[in-house]
Amino acid sequence: MENRRVVLASRPAGWVTEANFRVESAPVPRPKDGEVLVKNLWLSLDPYMRGRMNDAKSYAAKQELGEVMIGGTAGEVVESRNPRFKAGDKVVGMYGWQQYGCSDGKGLNKVDASQVPLSAFLGVLGMPGVTAWVGLLDICQPKAGETLVVSAASGAVGSVVGQIAKLKGCRAVGIAGGSAKCDYVVKELGFDACVDYKQGTLYEDLKAALPEGIDVCFENVGGETLDTALRLMKPFARIAICGLISQYSATEPYGLRNIRSVLVNRIRMQGFIVSDRLELWAKALPELGAWVAGGKIKFRESVAQGLESAPRAFIGLLKGENLGKQLVKLA
Ligand SMILES: NC(=O)c1ccc[n+]([C@@H]2O[C@H](COP(=O)([O-])OP(=O)(O)OC[C@H]3O[C@@H](n4cnc5c(N)ncnc54)[C@H](OP(=O)(O)O)[C@@H]3O)[C@@H](O)[C@H]2O)c1
Repeated sequence: MENRRVVLASRPAGWVTEANFRVESAPVPRPKDGEVLVKNLWLSLDPYMRGRMNDAKSYAAKQELGEVMIGGTAGEVVESRNPRFKAGDKVVGMYGWQQYGCSDGKGLNKVDASQVPLSAFLGVLGMPGVTAWVGLLDICQPKAGETLVVSAASGAVGSVVGQIAKLKGCRAVGIAGGSAKCDYVVKELGFDACVDYKQGTLYEDLKAALPEGIDVCFENVGGETLDTALRLMKPFARIAICGLISQYSATEPYGLRNIRSVLVNRIRMQGFIVSDRLELWAKALPELGAWVAGGKIKFRESVAQGLESAPRAFIGLLKGENLGKQLVKLA
């Protein structure tokens, strides 16, 4: 039995290319005493991986060259020499871009995949869902009747942000690329409106969708999107800087022009990283689980087939080719 895996072959300059990755084979590891062997069934692809590919100081260690690409995985225990796990258990962990993972079980969590598909634990019931919950409810603290704007609105995080905002009695306006994504956000997810930034008239269209301005801005994109939102903020608005995906492959940073809005509107703007708020996961996950089970939060997945498709699918994610959570089906 072999373990196919994808390693970082070189660091990208600007856009990621398939040449930045290399597919390798290694023997499937044999678990030692206290260890567990997992067959990964699903791999999560996430924008943060782009940052790890750089040789730059950040909130987390960089991805080393020649090492298996970092990534969240969901799979099934095939052999266990650890009393916490038994063969057949469904688990979520961080085994990266490979078919098998073997570890002492730290950071590996059993999940109940009898009511929801296993893949959901990498999306709406996993890191992206909790990111939406933490950024919106803990950082922005929206009140019923307020207006929220969220960018990358059809994506894994953004789609959950808008739906939670609606559950809390807010008006939710999305920003997304293209009419198909905007239709999905409004007609299927129940946002009040969605602006297609690819039309090239973002300010005019956002202003029309937000006649009274923005109370809460959940920012996933940055650059021109954030700069435009700043022009429409209301006094005492909150901005959660969750991500800046428009900047991840940029060679020059975008200089914000409308930062004056933060002063004149007394805005509270805060960046956050969901893994800093581990104490909130135990509160967020049951709530998200109940909303999903009750049909109050809907989600979609874009699924690439097979480990070898991961580099291509990751590049697609960074370019907006995904609708909802981007996954790779490994088996
Ligand atoms: N702070 C944290 O702890 C944390 C945790 C998870 C995720 N994040 C951040 O949250 C954001 C969303 O992540 P996700 O996993 O939910 O990904 P996602 O939204 O499912 O996928 C990324 C989306 O970003 C949009 N996008 C890409 N380039 C863009 C550009 N130049 N301008 C505007 N939109 C662009 C695309 O949608 P369109 O087609 O609509 O452009 C694409 O589908 C990312 O910035 C990510 O880094 C932060």
